[in-house]
Amino acid sequence: MKTLVTGGAGFIGSHLVEALLKRGDEVRVLDNLSTGHEENLDKTKEEIEFIKGSITDLKVCRKACIGMDIVFHEAAIPSVPRSVKDPVTSHQANATGTLNMLVAARDAGVRRLVYAASSSAYGDTPTLPKVETMRATPMSPYALQKYIGEVYCRQFFDLFGFETVSLRYFNIFGPRQDPNSPYGGVIPKFMSALLGGNAPTIFGDGGQTRDFTYVENAVNANLLASRADPRACGKVFNIACGTRYSLVELLSTVQEITGINIPPRHEPPRAGDVRDSLADISLAGKFLGYEVKVGFEEGLKRTVEWFRS
Ligand code: UD1
Repeated sequence: MKTLVTGGAGFIGSHLVEALLKRGDEVRVLDNLSTGHEENLDKTKEEIEFIKGSITDLKVCRKACIGMDIVFHEAAIPSVPRSVKDPVTSHQANATGTLNMLVAARDAGVRRLVYAASSSAYGDTPTLPKVETMRATPMSPYALQKYIGEVYCRQFFDLFGFETVSLRYFNIFGPRQDPNSPYGGVIPKFMSALLGGNAPTIFGDGGQTRDFTYVENAVNANLLASRADPRACGKVFNIACGTRYSLVELLSTVQEITGINIPPRHEPPRAGDVRDSLADISLAGKFLGYEVKVGFEEGLKRTVEWFRS
């Protein structure tokens, strides 16, 4: 199979590239290296075709889709706080970029597009776990932009019969997640702080919870989605572990694994932050055959190992 991974030099995309090569696909990557890094493709660069370009340019998207069977659309400008600070730039990548990819993939005769959606779409609704039938209530520009992409995916299936599957990722973590960006996720931030001998920062009281999900689970969900029965198309699926941990619990687990017990600094809560997040993953089980392969603690251990090396 010929597959295109947008954002293939990014954290999740580069893991997906490795898995696709392993299953025998011919892989092309489209990435503008704005948040991704060439080093993430060090292991695979000889085996892939790399196009440096942006999904905000429809012409680039069209070129990247030529001859492809499946598109995995991972490219995005992540981070809730970054989108609060600069909603226009993140909108161009996350919303317009997704529309561009859908148009380009449909017109090029691509068979299916699998979209990296976000759990942030649920917002702060009090009911847990989050089920796909709940109304989306995005609380930040990032959440809204990712949700727009999802709705476009559904519409492209309904209007044009173009096969799309949306995967709502719940706080994916693992090796290669960038700790250096000011907008990095909490897990790489905690790990790099502790291993560097610094105090980790907790925004708020640390009682907020997340369904932290090791990257291998997300990669596996993508492989399943690309081959799932067409009944999965036009739909959105939670991709998570179905368990939640507070930041305080997360930090103490990371302290235990690293053996480094530097206490955290507390800063005010971030604007646009969701309080609690937990997924019901039964729909993905039913339609995709998705199951959790690597749990929270094992994932954290593997990630610490990577940070140490
Ligand atoms: C959100 C989405 C997630 C998406 C991500 C992309 C939800 C529930 N999740 O993640 O699916 O992949 O955006 O960017 O909306 N924090 C600290 N200290 C730090 C860094 C973060 O305390 O150094 C806190 C944050 O304030 C937040 C939590 O940790 O409460 C998680 O933050 P982060 O890792 O950035 O992810 P979300 O914003 O939850």
